[in-house]
Amino acid sequence: MVSLSLNLQTVLAGLSIGLFVYYVIKRMRYRLPPGPWCIPLVGHYKIYSSLEIHKKVAELTKEYGPVLSISFGPQSWIFLNNNDVVIEALVKRKADFAGRPKFPSGDAFTEGGKDIAFSTYSPTWKFHRKIAGKALRHYLQGDLLENMIQDNMEKFLSKMAQEKEPFIFKDYVDLMVFHQLYTICFGEKRPIDDPEVKALLKLDEDLIKELGSGVLEDVFPYLKDIYPTAKWQKLIEGTDQLLGILRAKFKQHVDTFEPGVNRDFIDSMLLARQEAENEGDEASLEKLDDTHLVQTISDIFFAGVDTTRFTMDWFVYFMTRFPEIQIKCQEEIDRVVGSGHPSMKDRNNLDYTEACLFETMRLGSVAGLGVPHMTMCDSQVGGYDIPKGTTVFINHWALHHDPKFFKEPEKFDPYRYLDENGKKKPARPDSWLPFSAGNRVCLGETVAKPEILLMCANLLQRFKISLPDGVQANLEYKQLGFGTELPSEYKIIVKERIEN
Ligand code: HEM
Repeated sequence: MVSLSLNLQTVLAGLSIGLFVYYVIKRMRYRLPPGPWCIPLVGHYKIYSSLEIHKKVAELTKEYGPVLSISFGPQSWIFLNNNDVVIEALVKRKADFAGRPKFPSGDAFTEGGKDIAFSTYSPTWKFHRKIAGKALRHYLQGDLLENMIQDNMEKFLSKMAQEKEPFIFKDYVDLMVFHQLYTICFGEKRPIDDPEVKALLKLDEDLIKELGSGVLEDVFPYLKDIYPTAKWQKLIEGTDQLLGILRAKFKQHVDTFEPGVNRDFIDSMLLARQEAENEGDEASLEKLDDTHLVQTISDIFFAGVDTTRFTMDWFVYFMTRFPEIQIKCQEEIDRVVGSGHPSMKDRNNLDYTEACLFETMRLGSVAGLGVPHMTMCDSQVGGYDIPKGTTVFINHWALHHDPKFFKEPEKFDPYRYLDENGKKKPARPDSWLPFSAGNRVCLGETVAKPEILLMCANLLQRFKISLPDGVQANLEYKQLGFGTELPSEYKIIVKERIEN
């Protein structure tokens, strides 16, 4: 027993000395970014176990500057917290910072990084991003997207009009956006109360709840093999169920696929595979196996669905808090759209409404820490060295609350995006990066902006939206983890603007 404990002591002492020497050598070799002191191996537990990492990190920049190192267990992660350093990394040195780190929860969901969002910078990633981008552009042609939105919105707004009591808008918008993505990805139009769509939404919500505060296995990966936490097991079960649904949809499409007919996003993927087959392009065919294709579909579905429904929820939240802003949007929609339905061609003239959406995207933090990047080679940012293989987070929340760029950052002010004539400024404001930038810029940005704008315009065209009588307009929200924030649950009442 004594000799066992002595051996253990010797191993621990050796390990500590080894780690110390490694740390000193690394510090001497590189000019690494600063960060607060922490217990080695444990790291900044209070920060990484918090649902408010984005805010805690932003606060620390006052002492340490915009490039900050935080230890998550044994790993040091870098956070970039202002526009200058983010643009330097993502735009000026873009290929250096275009990688993705591997971490167990991401790997589990993406079957080892076979998707786009979590796969690292490589020819395979580039190839999949290209075919998915082409498939998304298909929806921007003609009136395909606006007809889909119109159809889907009509269904939900008519149901909403029947609500006699105050109701939770989120319950509607969640389903609305899930149904929308069902049509885009799977070509299906289902009834509002369809149990399959509801079940998928519930699975997604459960996973967000579980993953929000992170899983210990991402900080200490070996745990999953020796003593997996209950959270990890739930994550694996949820992931299997979600991917099971997508695989079944994919198989139905393979079985009913007609060459040359494009019913939806899955068919676009199958068409890309067919083209490679026709051209005898073996290299592409290898990358177009079922696993990669299901993973691409999963990315488009889940990267799109959560960010879109959360943004819509924030938009309506602000519209109920600032009724005078809502009225201005409605006046603009009436003037530009008239009695028809909002369409893609109206988009260029809905300046004020779009400015409200942009301000919603700044203040409603739906991807506050984005998706982690990884350096592909030794690089630099803000005067510090960033060794190859370092995990780097973009703190979008900090960028969007930087008083240097946004006067009174907490204020909802659509005029930040408009010129003196009330027209949209030609360029986005500095430090406004909800979709990020550089090689990894959000693939869905060109679809998300018109899609959400048309959904919001449809909603405001039909209804005056307010808080129930006697309810005070507060500005409270809740943290979902990793920089994602949502309004605290709120109820609304809607009144048709033109009585039928
Ligand atoms: C309000 C809506 C949205 C917001 C705020 C948003 C934001 C983001 C952000 C911050 C990233 C990470 C960029 C980076 O790594 O630096 C991202 C990546 C991505 N987004 Fe979006 N997104 C939205 C909607 C969508 C939609 C509708 C789709 C699909 C139709 C989509 C597909 C993707 C994909 C595939 C990636 C991964 C890109 C890559 O790693 O190469 N997003 N998004």
